Amino acid sequence: MKLLFIGDVVGSIGRNMLSESLPALKRKYRPQFTIVNGENAAAGRGITEKIYKEFLQSGVDIITMGNHTWDNKDIFTFVDNEKVKLLRPANFPEGTPGIGYKIIAINQQKIAVINMQGRALMNSLDDPFRKMDEILKIVKSETNCIFVDFHAETTSEKQAMGWYLDGQVSAVVGTHTHVQTNDARILPQGTAYLTDAGMTGAYDSILGVEKEIIIEKFISQMPVRHEIPEQGRKILSGCFIELDSTTGKALRIENILINDDQPFGSE
Ligand SMILES: [Fe+2]
Repeated sequence: MKLLFIGDVVGSIGRNMLSESLPALKRKYRPQFTIVNGENAAAGRGITEKIYKEFLQSGVDIITMGNHTWDNKDIFTFVDNEKVKLLRPANFPEGTPGIGYKIIAINQQKIAVINMQGRALMNSLDDPFRKMDEILKIVKSETNCIFVDFHAETTSEKQAMGWYLDGQVSAVVGTHTHVQTNDARILPQGTAYLTDAGMTGAYDSILGVEKEIIIEKFISQMPVRHEIPEQGRKILSGCFIELDSTTGKALRIENILINDDQPFGSE
């Protein structure tokens, strides 16, 4: 089984980069499942139903979110639809709208996709490690192919989750920090691991946001309103993972980074 994961799509520039790049990525990697983190898709803050539908139309199978899940109120119009292909972190408290994991099937292949959020330097959601135990008990009866988007701030918490789940899931890929880490590997018990997939959006930016605004914030120490550049050079970040469809063990993980300095096909 082959999976394509694209990291945090930021604003319209990120959405454009995704829709422009996806056909070539699909031709190259031939993934059965394409997973995209969309928590910053609506101008950096959350997602709308229109954007959600555009993602699905462009060939995305399921969308994961994170700490910005609720920033755009439009999400409440579709997040509880029975067939929704959007996940919010599974460790939000009981009773939170939406779902945190889902088993999706294409051509008799099944994969469980789980979205989880870290707690170090983030909101204090439920324990993501114990929540993983609970979910694995449920999904393991249906499939060994399990992908985890761990949306977390610190590299240490992400590594802890990777090692905690080694041999229990197919892949743990981090999101949220928007800078791709150079540590893609398969852990000893067969779990593919990448601390952060990186972002998809404005290349000449600071984490996808107008760089001048963020520089000003650091200098002035005053609050600023984040604006997402709509024009300019673009970056796409993510990874490709190949699994043994029966055991769920990872066979390969490859980082994907496309920008003007590393154009598609130049590797
Ligand atoms: Fe985030």
